[in-house]
Amino acid sequence: MSQQPKEQSLPNGLSLSWSGKEGVLRAFAERTPAGKPALVERYGFKEPDGRLFWGDNLAVMDALLAQEAESFDLIYIDPPFATGDDFSVKLSVGEKGKRPKHPASWSDVQAYHDKWEGASFWSMMYARLLRVHGLLSPTGTLFLHCDHRTDWVLRGMLEEIFGAGQVINQIVWHYTGGGRSKRRISRKYDTIFWVAKGPSWTFHLDEIRVPYKASSGFAKGGITSAAGKKYMPHPDGTPVDDVWDIPIVNPMSRERWDYPTQKPERLLERILRLASSPGDKVADFFCGSGTTLAVAQSLGRRWVGCDQGHWSMHTLRKRLLCREEPASLEVYRVQQTTTPTGPLKVVAKLSERDGSFQVSLEHVEWVGPTALPDDVLALVQAPLDLVDAWTVGSTPNEGIFQGDWYAGRTRDDRTLSPETPWFAVWEGSEVCVRVYDLLGGCTEVVLPLK
Ligand SMILES: C[S@@+](CC[C@H](N)C(=O)[O-])C[C@H]1O[C@@H](n2cnc3c(N)ncnc32)[C@H](O)[C@@H]1O
Repeated sequence: MSQQPKEQSLPNGLSLSWSGKEGVLRAFAERTPAGKPALVERYGFKEPDGRLFWGDNLAVMDALLAQEAESFDLIYIDPPFATGDDFSVKLSVGEKGKRPKHPASWSDVQAYHDKWEGASFWSMMYARLLRVHGLLSPTGTLFLHCDHRTDWVLRGMLEEIFGAGQVINQIVWHYTGGGRSKRRISRKYDTIFWVAKGPSWTFHLDEIRVPYKASSGFAKGGITSAAGKKYMPHPDGTPVDDVWDIPIVNPMSRERWDYPTQKPERLLERILRLASSPGDKVADFFCGSGTTLAVAQSLGRRWVGCDQGHWSMHTLRKRLLCREEPASLEVYRVQQTTTPTGPLKVVAKLSERDGSFQVSLEHVEWVGPTALPDDVLALVQAPLDLVDAWTVGSTPNEGIFQGDWYAGRTRDDRTLSPETPWFAVWEGSEVCVRVYDLLGGCTEVVLPLK
């Protein structure tokens, strides 16, 4: 079967083993066709630019393997790095975007966990890499982002699953900024393995040339070899090598979405330009704040994103919908979970005028079940400060919410209108209002049309 990985061994008699590996291989070989993910939200009326999957990427990839095996042109993954930490959400409250000092113990503000028992991290990664391999097209490639904690083992997994020699490049992403160590040379690079499924792959080196250094003599007039051959500079600059100097997303950066471990768009832009073409199908199964998806949207690639965190989904909706040209997108869930009751009491009003109508938020109040911590509460100066985004659409039909209007607080624009524009036409007899609070939870109210 073409979805099976290559021979399960490394070259020259080496082998990779840990407790749990056999179970991962067995579960992959014996997996049963996964249930189809349920479409739960849709924004925009045209063919979707991309799809978001909310849930464990293992189940998502199994479902995609049943329908879309060997169809992805580029997959980038930036999984947890096995840091032993929990990553919390960096909250901003209301119009001023003030930041509380929330206690780390408060579980509602966790973005994701990165603590692993025994060899569980290796099993988690191996299970996912087997599936990524199955999803890639014959000319597709994977970019696996990791660091010194795990790169030495992950490289072995890649050689094993994709076959010896299939790692095209081991890219060093070098950055500056952040703290300096007093005990050792500061660690300032991540590793990105670029791996091919087959013998050929998309490779657009000219797309990612960088300008020559101002001091470059070659850039000024070219160079003549001893044999008299003249080499001239390329108008777009020099080709990059495998060490990439790209700044991290700094605290003041305009592209910042306040998602922990968010990667810079420049990095993803370079990857997507290098190894995909317009119209290609690109995926990120640990997509976090959606850097890959936002760049794919800008570059005209079709995209698929997956994350299991609710804060990630909240950020993704905002990042992809609060753009000059909002993306059209679909949201799927893999597990049948019931949406928890939102923590807000929302009073919304529907006004009608000459056949048009408008929705306004009249009152918003935090009713729990968890109380807001005091330091967050202290920053709430008006009821609307409790709201981070809201959307208006048609009542879920067969479980699908069709969003017609969406507004969210972004770094550039913290204001949030309490009213929608006037809608001239509306399909259906009800309007569904979904209000996302400052922790990303969702409260829904339904308003009947008269
Ligand atoms: C390092 S972050 C990705 C950051 C992302 N590259 C960005 O630029 O924002 C890793 C992400 O993987 C997600 N994640 C971890 N395990 C997962 C799983 N089994 N299924 C889906 N998502 C997972 C976490 O919720 C987290 O958002």
